Amino acid sequence: MKFLVTGGAGFIGGNFIHYMVNKYPEDTIVNLDKLTYAGNLETCKPVEDKPNYKFYKGDIADRAFIFDLFEKERFDIVVNFAAESHVDRSIEDPEIFVKTNVLGTTTLLDACVKYGIQRYHQVSTDEVYGDLPLDRPDLFFTETTPLHTSSPYSSAKAAADLFVLAYHRTYGLPVTISRCSNNYGPYHFPEKLIPLMISRALANESLPVYGDGANVRDWLHVYDHCTAIDLIIRQGKNGEVYNVGGHNERSNLEVVKTILKALNKPESLIRFVEDRKGHDRRYAIDPTKLETELGWKPKYTFDTGIQQTIQWYLENKEWWQNILSGEYQDYFDKMYAKKIDG
Ligand code: NAD
Ligand code: TYD
Repeated sequence: MKFLVTGGAGFIGGNFIHYMVNKYPEDTIVNLDKLTYAGNLETCKPVEDKPNYKFYKGDIADRAFIFDLFEKERFDIVVNFAAESHVDRSIEDPEIFVKTNVLGTTTLLDACVKYGIQRYHQVSTDEVYGDLPLDRPDLFFTETTPLHTSSPYSSAKAAADLFVLAYHRTYGLPVTISRCSNNYGPYHFPEKLIPLMISRALANESLPVYGDGANVRDWLHVYDHCTAIDLIIRQGKNGEVYNVGGHNERSNLEVVKTILKALNKPESLIRFVEDRKGHDRRYAIDPTKLETELGWKPKYTFDTGIQQTIQWYLENKEWWQNILSGEYQDYFDKMYAKKIDG
């Protein structure tokens, strides 16, 4: 089978490409990525010489390019990871989120209808459900929780999900959607909480925690997200949504303290800074459908996964130090200028 994987030079798409290329040598994995600030071909290095791997640089919202690519490659399965993915950037500049996350998705869907693929899989997020109150630990997101977004990022992802479901109903396109909780693991761009805190703690720099640090995220190791997507593509029911998560809720402050402890760094590095606008309080996924219908089980708990991740960052300093020395540093200085004093 021939797979198109979009956004495969990013964090989760990159991990998925490694997983697929190695697990299915008989399949062809085509990676399409625009190489935005978040795309990094270094992430694809471990597989770039494999005979079943191919890379194209391009934009999922570029209609002419996408249709030419589908004409040439005749994909069987499309897995769409490509997106603008950072909530803070979406608050500063929402438009590119509409362009890539919504128009990029509809462009891919149009090509899938025209070329008749076997399955289109949309990689979505639990953020489409909005947030839960901190004082109701009994509440979880299920697949039937209404979409109720907070940020421009999650709104664009929710819009894309609705288009995917509309193409299924209207044109009969075979689709599935996965909505996963926060991922962490190797090759995570150091603007997101966990890699940001690891890289800054290692440099003895201050750690910016938004608000009081009580916001809760439900963390899943990226490897477990990859196994879930693999299972959904092959065994998931056409037209269905699957939540992905492993019941690993932690407050941001707990996460930061865990990292400091593992690195033997002092908690005095923590700085409480201005809160994010519209900051979601708590995410918590109920993955019962995926577990009971498809038999999915995560390999990592948060405690085992975070230690593996910290170890990876210690052993792969070159990967993230190259990013920190580039244009990302200008972003950090601009975004955190008002928030942090040093
Ligand atoms: P990322 O920002 O690390 O990677 C995104 C990749 O998409 C980059 O390689 C980038 O170059 C590429 N890209 C961006 N715009 C593009 C375009 N117009 N055309 C082609 N390529 C483009 O993101 P990530 O964290 O790996 O997230 C991947 C997907 O998973 C996203 O759809 C995101 O919404 C979803 N998701 C992420 C998380 C998480 O915790 N990171 C959780 C659930 C779902
Ligand atoms: P993030 O990694 O941006 O993921 P998301 O917003 O998609 O959940 O942020 C995770 C949590 O960490 C979120 O509650 C915001 C918080 N956070 C900080 O406290 N400081 C930071 O510098 C960043 C980037 C995030």
